[in-house]
Amino acid sequence: DPAPTTGAPAVPPSWALGPQHARWGFGSEREVRRVVAGYRARGLPLSVLHLDIDHFDAHRVFTVDRERFPDLPGLAKELREDGVRLVSIVDPAVAAVPGNAVFDTGAAVGASGAFVRDARGRTVRGEVWPGECVYPDFTDPKVREWWGGLYEERLAQGFSGVWHDMNEPVSFAAFGEPTLPRSSRHALEGRGGDHREAHNVYGLAMARAGYEGLLRLRPDERPFLFSRSGWAGMQRYGGTWSGDVATGWPGLRASLALVLGLGLCGVPYSGPDVGGFDGSPSPELYLRWFQLGAYLPLFRTHAAIDAGRREPWEFGPRVLDGAREVLVERERLRPYWVTLAHMARLTGAPYVRPLWWGAPGDRALRECEDAFLLGDALLVAPVLEPGVEERSVRLPAGRWYDTVSGAVYEGPGQVVVGAPLSRVPVLARAGAVIPVRGPGGGLELEVWAPAEGAGGGGSVVRDGGDGWAPVVVERYTTRLVGGRVVVERDGEEGLVDCPVRVRGL
Ligand code: GLC
Repeated sequence: DPAPTTGAPAVPPSWALGPQHARWGFGSEREVRRVVAGYRARGLPLSVLHLDIDHFDAHRVFTVDRERFPDLPGLAKELREDGVRLVSIVDPAVAAVPGNAVFDTGAAVGASGAFVRDARGRTVRGEVWPGECVYPDFTDPKVREWWGGLYEERLAQGFSGVWHDMNEPVSFAAFGEPTLPRSSRHALEGRGGDHREAHNVYGLAMARAGYEGLLRLRPDERPFLFSRSGWAGMQRYGGTWSGDVATGWPGLRASLALVLGLGLCGVPYSGPDVGGFDGSPSPELYLRWFQLGAYLPLFRTHAAIDAGRREPWEFGPRVLDGAREVLVERERLRPYWVTLAHMARLTGAPYVRPLWWGAPGDRALRECEDAFLLGDALLVAPVLEPGVEERSVRLPAGRWYDTVSGAVYEGPGQVVVGAPLSRVPVLARAGAVIPVRGPGGGLELEVWAPAEGAGGGGSVVRDGGDGWAPVVVERYTTRLVGGRVVVERDGEEGLVDCPVRVRGL
């Protein structure tokens, strides 16, 4: 029998593997256009822009403030033609106001309505952004079906994906637990139980409702969803993010620990609020965060409504140049990200792995928490402290190349690499085959020369679009023959049908 599993991770659409920008408080269509134009004018790639609760009417989920966003579908279409997708926040709590369509239709679901009740049958009320709210009971299949149908409104507004938030679930409280009372009742798939049991699966069940809803409404596209709260198995429906990580160097370090830990727990797609949620990062902290974020699956800047700006051009020309460099590199590596996303689903291996991946007995590597492997091919050594010009990196066994200087290192061991503010050190494993975007935009294989007698290789899954095209894993092997690098594709008589660029010779 196969080992028990919490389920294979959803493969995000390719566009969700590109750079993303968010903020609580873009506030208007005009501001959204200004930010996207700012990216364009400075040659900064951007794939996704997120709209937070401030685009809702009175903070109510599944509504739009029509004064500030008079034509959201038009805006979405315009941005999409420019290569930028819109993603919408979705909060579970529903304003308890008759006339609020979500409240009214929810009340009519099944015999007793969609919202969580107490033991005496009264609807449990809480307090969230829109004021007094009620909470859908996502542990009831009927409720999931109703809720999933509401995403039709989001799709009609032009959104391409969703961002689930406040789904612990939150109810603001001056004291006591900021969530539903423990005695609240839940369907728990018909079995019945209270909030002590349902609390931790609430976000998971909401993710299921959203994912299944999007799938019913738009069956030809893979849903894009990520959620603040969740539980083992949430990866079947999407990813997660740091939540409101504090702006500061400890928050930057925590961002990496979070993504590594979640990956080992079966949730491979996640990332932090790049730059931190609150306040204003120093230019140095912002760029270091940006450089790390560019090598994490969910690469998204985000900040609170009262926080400082987070656009890459707000921190001076040096930061702008540094940010541009990693944004461009992120997009160059898009085919590698697509491959890693499919491999995560097929094998369970997360995109972002601890250095000891493949060498679990290596004590020195196990202690290393300041660097990581991106797939099999790359070792990323982000800078996690201020004032750094170089940093030491512990290497797993084998030959490694500094991808910028070309310097060659032999692992296992520890080396010192240059890490000025302008760069995040990335090393490539000798023999690796990395699918990248070539200069003309087509697929190219970047091959790092194998060590004498060692060989190497890699897998490639070509981007088959954002639907459900069958997944074909191509396997490549590399060897050094008479000082030349030979690349062959398994089967296919060894023929490689795309350009190959050899590096490290
Ligand atoms: C929560 C989320 C944050 C969001 C804010 C407003 O704090 O974690 O990302 O911006 O709510 O919706």
